[in-house]
Amino acid sequence: MDKLIVHGGHKLSGSINVSGAKNASLPILAASLLTKEDVILRRVPDVSDTNYMIQILSALGAEVERSSGTVRINAANIISEAPYELVRKMRASICVMGPLLARLGKAKVSLPGGCVIGDRPVDLHLKGLRAIGTEIDMEGGNMDMSAPTGLKGKEVDLRGKHGPTVLGTDNLMMAAVLAEGTTIIESAACEPEVVDLANFLISMGAKIEGAGTRRITIQGVSALHGTEHTIIPDRIEAGTYMVAGALAGNPDTGVTLHRVCEEHLQPTTDKLREAGHSVTFSNEGQSVTVKPGKSPVGCNIVTAPHPGFPTDMQAQFSALFAITPGLSIIEDTIFPQRFMHCAEMSRMGANMLVDQGKVVITGTESLSAAPVMASDLRASAALVLAALVADGATEINRLYHIDRGYEHIDEKLLQLGAKVERARE
Ligand code: EPU
Repeated sequence: MDKLIVHGGHKLSGSINVSGAKNASLPILAASLLTKEDVILRRVPDVSDTNYMIQILSALGAEVERSSGTVRINAANIISEAPYELVRKMRASICVMGPLLARLGKAKVSLPGGCVIGDRPVDLHLKGLRAIGTEIDMEGGNMDMSAPTGLKGKEVDLRGKHGPTVLGTDNLMMAAVLAEGTTIIESAACEPEVVDLANFLISMGAKIEGAGTRRITIQGVSALHGTEHTIIPDRIEAGTYMVAGALAGNPDTGVTLHRVCEEHLQPTTDKLREAGHSVTFSNEGQSVTVKPGKSPVGCNIVTAPHPGFPTDMQAQFSALFAITPGLSIIEDTIFPQRFMHCAEMSRMGANMLVDQGKVVITGTESLSAAPVMASDLRASAALVLAALVADGATEINRLYHIDRGYEHIDEKLLQLGAKVERARE
């Protein structure tokens, strides 16, 4: 297993390119099962989650070639059963349910297991698929699904107790594109990644309206054709490096990120500015420079579905607020148990009190290096950010968590002037 050693205290400057979005790539890779023709995807990030999805597609019988960021998929001959050994490694594997049902009228996929960021049920995925004619048998940890009389469009409300569901919306949309008649998804997720999936499906011949709003209308078609598509920039990777710029950037030059989408970064931009940092977009919103402010202030964050503040960015802001004067409160309404990073950051001297889906942070003047353990993807990113400003060398163990979603993080940090090294645990 790899670990990352971060030598704190080096000011960051210069620029990097942001990768394609992991959370757009995963459902779009799965959606390539919907056609017998070739699909070419560009800017698929080289992270372990996309590699798992590619392995799942191959195990289902698809021919997949990957050459740097470009993935070519041909799913002419596929089977309906996804192997447990691969599926269990990544929750997003459940994205193959919708496409398999649509293409083959059946799918057998393991139930995803527990997750460190909290309960992650699949009831809304099943509600959506059932509504359009899927029968589901749960046995031996598997979801055995079939649509004996074919998938038939229906109106369905996918609102859960924590709001809309991103992958649940994706699954129903992917199943409905080949269903008979019209499907209407009410309380749909409107994250940019859902819109990217819809645009990909439309480019294959699907009829979808309203992606990016709370009501998506899908008119089923009889077949989809091959296509080429470029994945949108990763707004969470970009947001993570924006926080790095605010925390550890050289005050004169800051950190510049290219290949971003200004609109997708609005909630992160707003919070960085509210906390007193400088965020400047250029190149028609495709580049951004973040510089640390002279008098940063703590502030409050409540996560919410898009266009609200993303749950996937709250851990990184807790690293920022750890050394921001004053009091900050972060509440995660989507994953109220997603605060594993706080105990590790407290070992580095942060002052954090976690209680009932919230963390209260009292900023300290400095953090000190300590061996820390990554627990999930965004928690690991937060530890790396904290380590950039800690006194001494922080060892972040279990780096595989971060390799799931951050392409070449050590190389990108080195490019910005950080002192980091990857080593064996
Ligand atoms: N939920 C249910 N029932 C369901 C599905 C979800 O109650 O059937 C609940 C969840 O427990 C949660 C809320 O609904 O409280 C929202 O979960 P959602 O379904 O939207 O999450 P997801 O689609 O499984 C995606 C991202 C996550 C991101 C969330 C929320 C991917 C591959 N994953 O997960 O990303 O946190 O949306 O925005 O797109 C990450 O990248 O680190 C990550 C965890």
